[in-house]
Amino acid sequence: MRFPIAAVVSALAAGVASVSLVAQKAANPTPAGVLTVYKTPTCGCCHQWIEHMKAAGFQVREVDMDDITEVKQTSGVPIKLRTCHTGLIDGYVVEGHVPADLVKKMLAEKPKVTGIAVPGMPQGSPGMEQGDARDPYDVVLFDKSGKTTVYAKR
Ligand code: CU
Ligand code: CU
Repeated sequence: MRFPIAAVVSALAAGVASVSLVAQKAANPTPAGVLTVYKTPTCGCCHQWIEHMKAAGFQVREVDMDDITEVKQTSGVPIKLRTCHTGLIDGYVVEGHVPADLVKKMLAEKPKVTGIAVPGMPQGSPGMEQGDARDPYDVVLFDKSGKTTVYAKR
């Protein structure tokens, strides 16, 4: 198993998820799995991103930790991609301020990657809104070796 933490979470969610998974896939794009988000207790932009994910239909479980480095380490997030929070869902890592629609797209397409990331906390990404200010940014898929491919440009 590549992600021990994710495995526990999906095992807990499996009872609920497996029954309705097929039906949901056909009719409803809302992911069946729970998104577990590891963050520090005082992180404001993490909170804003979680609100964005909930508004898009994700079930979110928040885990506050003083230091989330170990979660990133065990989940296989390359150092250059690490940001303020790490999410785990259905065996994938969601690192940083990733737009909800692209997380859904990845979960539907099931690419053979470790996860999806928006490095660098760009202005204007979900949870990083500051008025109309926007920095264009790449949303990337990554594997544990640090290899990234651009999944979308925003
Ligand atoms: Cu942030
Ligand atoms: Cu965050």
